[in-house]
Amino acid sequence: MRISVIGCGYLGAVHAACMAKLGHEVVGVDVDERKIEELSAARAPFYEPGLDKLLREVQDTGRLTFTTDLAAAAGSAVHFICVGTPQKTGENAADMTYVDGAATGLLPYLFPNDVVVGKSTVPVGTASRLADIVRAKQPDAHVIWNPEFLREGHAVSDTLQPDRFVYGVLDGSEDHPAVAVLDAVYSTPLASGTPRLVTDHPTAELVKAAANSFLATKISFINAMAEVCEAAGADVTQLADAIGMDDRIGRKFLNAGIGFGGGCLPKDIRAFMARAGELGADQALTFLREVDAINMRRRTRVVELTRDLCGGTLLGKRVTVLGAAFKPESDDVRDSPALSIAAQLQLQGAVVTVTDPKALPNAARRFPELHYEVETSVAVMKADALLLLTEWQEYRDLDPYGLGSSVSSRRILDGRNVLDAAKWRAAGWVYRGLGRP
Ligand code: UGA
Repeated sequence: MRISVIGCGYLGAVHAACMAKLGHEVVGVDVDERKIEELSAARAPFYEPGLDKLLREVQDTGRLTFTTDLAAAAGSAVHFICVGTPQKTGENAADMTYVDGAATGLLPYLFPNDVVVGKSTVPVGTASRLADIVRAKQPDAHVIWNPEFLREGHAVSDTLQPDRFVYGVLDGSEDHPAVAVLDAVYSTPLASGTPRLVTDHPTAELVKAAANSFLATKISFINAMAEVCEAAGADVTQLADAIGMDDRIGRKFLNAGIGFGGGCLPKDIRAFMARAGELGADQALTFLREVDAINMRRRTRVVELTRDLCGGTLLGKRVTVLGAAFKPESDDVRDSPALSIAAQLQLQGAVVTVTDPKALPNAARRFPELHYEVETSVAVMKADALLLLTEWQEYRDLDPYGLGSSVSSRRILDGRNVLDAAKWRAAGWVYRGLGRP
């Protein structure tokens, strides 16, 4: 099939490459010329494991091209909208400028029976609104909402082998003509047994908002338990293991630490609250305000703990932050709790050095006032305290004995609860976890 993908960020670039991998002829469109140049040269403009390799592989087949010209979408049977929906400045709501721009920009290039597929995370009601706009110009084209559930760091496999497909169509019916078209697009994963659900537009949009809200709630729940564990002298990691053994609860997303960040969970729960408010259902989601508050409290708590660890003052203390990305296997620093903690420590007088295997260029653009060091061995030199804030494997594997002679004081705060506390203590370190005695 001929497919266009509008928006080539994390979602769109991966989606375009994966659709070509599935055998389709794909054109990716983005307004950012630098991004298009990189992608055309088979280079991912961000770090995502496996994406460079996949881009090279599919570009060699000639099935994948990139352009800044939206007119190239003409002639595609399916048009995926993959643009961003960032948080509006100074508001909780999502900024719909890019989605609306992509949809209206496509209008001149739509033919009868074309299917416009929305993948961006949007406020409920968007699909039906866009369907009206599309129908006014091209009555025989369709709008289907097909939310994306990929995780950064696993984006390629999450796209090629997702847990499920959700198709939101106007009438919510399996017989809607767009369903068969999207089935053809995803024929390979569907043939291997990936479940797919057909819903109406608002249900499909809400599935995505609900999924991310649930994940955020799970993380804030365990972080709230960490607060109680700290007060009671209990260990939240053992508590998580124990409650996670109950199938109904599950151990995944129960890792207490510095909280969630990134370009999705924080802004998605806020946009969801804002939209519920517009719909008169704000009371239903007031708990998400608490989820957000618990999450933000983690960052202040780590700053306080670091002050304690440094003997009561941060002034002039050399603090090394291990990890800047919002999670490992990503160079994304959007709303990264690690970076926000590093910046807070610096503001309070600490001399902060940040290191990260992939995210330093992005971090330096966001917080130019922090000091960055590529080599871990150099970054830790003469540190008064180390803070492990993003659990890259190389930080999990650090040797407390080897490291001991480089630092000024053997103090470590494990912001992700991934180190073996006993081993670090045996090597002479003062070890602090979060929610652990
Ligand atoms: C999230 C969802 O997991 C995806 O399903 C969704 O498609 C995506 O948002 C999106 O809306 O596009 P992502 O932002 O890549 O994916 O990151 P997650 O893996 O969800 O992690 C989010 C944050 O939670 C990270 O900062 C991570 O460190 C933190 N986290 C995760 C914890 O603090 N504890 C945990 O147990 C798990």
